[in-house]
Amino acid sequence: MGANTNFEKYKSDGSVGGNVLEWVDARFPLTSMWKAHLSEYYAPKNFNFWYFFGSLALLVLVIQIVTGIFLVMHYKPDASLNVNGIPVAFASVEYIMRDVPWGWLIRYMHSTGASAFFIVVYMHMFRGLLYGSYRQPRELIWVFGVLIFLCLMAEAFMGYLLPWGQMSFWGAQVIVNLFSAIPLIGEPLSVWIRGDFVVGDATLNRFFSFHVIAVPLVLIGLVAAHILALHEVGSNNPDGVEIKKHKDANGIPLDGIPFHPYYTVKDIVGVVVFLMVFSCVVFFAPEGGGYFLEFNNFIPADPLKTPPHIAPVWYFTPFYSLLRAMVWPFFGLDAKFWGVVAMGLGVVILAFLPWLDRSPVKSIRYRGPIFKALLILFVIAFGILGFLGTQPPSYAFFGVIPGAPVAQILTVYYFLFFITMPWWSKIDKYSPEPDRVTM
Ligand code: HEM
Repeated sequence: MGANTNFEKYKSDGSVGGNVLEWVDARFPLTSMWKAHLSEYYAPKNFNFWYFFGSLALLVLVIQIVTGIFLVMHYKPDASLNVNGIPVAFASVEYIMRDVPWGWLIRYMHSTGASAFFIVVYMHMFRGLLYGSYRQPRELIWVFGVLIFLCLMAEAFMGYLLPWGQMSFWGAQVIVNLFSAIPLIGEPLSVWIRGDFVVGDATLNRFFSFHVIAVPLVLIGLVAAHILALHEVGSNNPDGVEIKKHKDANGIPLDGIPFHPYYTVKDIVGVVVFLMVFSCVVFFAPEGGGYFLEFNNFIPADPLKTPPHIAPVWYFTPFYSLLRAMVWPFFGLDAKFWGVVAMGLGVVILAFLPWLDRSPVKSIRYRGPIFKALLILFVIAFGILGFLGTQPPSYAFFGVIPGAPVAQILTVYYFLFFITMPWWSKIDKYSPEPDRVTM
């Protein structure tokens, strides 16, 4: 059914399909939902490359849920040792890889999907920065987005424990131990999270429960809220102008086109290109050079053998660098505590963007040189922080420039970018936004 389908005529034409639709519509708002969210949802006609990533995030969410369901059929969250002395959880993943028909494909799709999710979501968030999509009236879409991002981080962190490899075990050990830095309640809190004094079977079982049901439920709910909020106010666009300001006699935005079929078809192009790249990784480089699947995680968890270098997966490393940058105690609280604060704040501060940005225009197309320069620096800083987070603290660029102070300077920049935004976004030059979208 295309955009111009006359549902009323179809329902009364006497055909079986028409009758079924009429029967359903009398009991469920099927046609009205289809119209409101697809065939009569008017999206700006100037969407570009950056607008592919919302639908791609939805696609990856579906891939993760479907492959996850099949993995759960064979995976066992059990830290005890089998007859060969291998932890059952680790052995069940090996079993999926070697013995379950197509198990290797399902597992690699899921592990690659985790990294793909973060690539797509980082691009999606960056689009928000480029075009000011978080600005009024889209603040709630953005806040739901930040909550989605937090859930996604929790989901990935807990999922990573499940294969019960060396990195799973020691990564969880390091991160859960961070909570012990919180004054007074820290120590009992970390024991409560683990369900034990060390990461163990109780931890594995509860992370499994959260990873397969609790967090995905919240995630799906948040994604629904995210899209409902978007459809309430309408999409932003690369010009950052409100298309609802100019409507025709029927109340349809002059610069809008029905989402279906125009953008459903356009999004298929993004899906095809994405699946081509995704398949190349799944079939030819599922370890992603040790970034998507860390080499140490092919070794079963051994609580008696700490790996020499424990690094989180790449998508956490910019925030891990913020944590490691805090090396001095303040106000009688040790550096670890401030590290946890910096890491948490590094994510939470994103939620305040709609109120920090005071520019009169939304899109980068009409913003001034200060925004453009600071944004480029922000991307570079985020990338270098991410890289340094994958390296040991002793890392030096070209063997001479020590990485640790560089990470500290970039951490200061990361926070200053946001904290000083109300000031620099106001004094920056800008050119007036056009009245209508440009193509
Ligand atoms: C599972 C993760 C996510 C999914 C499935 C998702 C889905 C979507 C979809 C389908 C759209 C509409 C299409 C588009 O504009 O590209 C959208 C728009 C948007 N999303 Fe997300 N999103 C996710 C995460 C996030 C995150 C983490 C943020 C920011 C922190 C965010 C911020 C936004 C904003 C501001 C818009 C409106 C963009 C505009 O109108 O220009 N989203 N999202």
